[in-house]
Amino acid sequence: MSSHRIARPIGIFDSGIGGLTVAAAIRRSMPGERLLYFGDTEHFPYGERSPDAIRHYAIRITNFLLDQGCKAIVIACNTASAHASGPVELTAGDQVPVFNVIDPVATHIAETWPTGTIGVIGTKGTIASRVYVKAVAKRNKQVKVRSLATPLLAPMIEEGFYNNNISLAVIRSYLEHRNLAGMEALVLGCTHYPLIRDEVEKVVGSRVSVLDPPTIVAATIKQGLKDQGLLRRSRTPAGADKFFLSDMTDSFKSSAKRFFRKPMQLRELRMWDH
Ligand code: DGL
Repeated sequence: MSSHRIARPIGIFDSGIGGLTVAAAIRRSMPGERLLYFGDTEHFPYGERSPDAIRHYAIRITNFLLDQGCKAIVIACNTASAHASGPVELTAGDQVPVFNVIDPVATHIAETWPTGTIGVIGTKGTIASRVYVKAVAKRNKQVKVRSLATPLLAPMIEEGFYNNNISLAVIRSYLEHRNLAGMEALVLGCTHYPLIRDEVEKVVGSRVSVLDPPTIVAATIKQGLKDQGLLRRSRTPAGADKFFLSDMTDSFKSSAKRFFRKPMQLRELRMWDH
């Protein structure tokens, strides 16, 4: 594989700041990689959009990431992974690997809790698609997957409204729902949710393992890039990370800087003409 191709950035996208949890895990496990992030804040929240709309956005963003020379595409959004993995793969073609955030977690569950009861929380779009139920059943039919849509959480997080009494009460009322009764482990099935992991752990207590999807996904990406000769082994990236937003929202600006803890150059890119 040419060193020129290996030095290209990894393209990552989400509807907002959630994908930064995946970007940060990639940065930790692959320090030599350069990241190109796209947050489709103009269309946030994806969880309330139709599958067709999400496919349309995901294909357009993928084309942008390919035009920027990305060597791999990461769909760092569960809702987009649920509805648009196939179209994104078709758009990327054979040369550029595509990673979603659901398959690595489904494999991890099937291997770690082969006869367990697993809870999944996510957006309305993700839960209605039953993508986790199907992905886990494909790997191991013994695992019971219980799921619950938690649509207030992503907007709350995108706004930076968490770590307070009200956010804790909202999280508690969702997690005590009967759909999740008896779970041994919980999947944070939306890339925004790792930002409220501490509150979730406080509510579910030590009996329930709260999975860390970004770390699981980053490990799969690392292995995938290695297998294809695309992993950059250097300890320092070949250039600065870039962050694009379809709408420069104040909430993204403040939450992203607080979360990513690194200097971030944010640029607005209006992709859709209305
Ligand atoms: N981060 C997105 C996900 O993982 C969801 C947030 C949204 O509704 O846009 O599903």
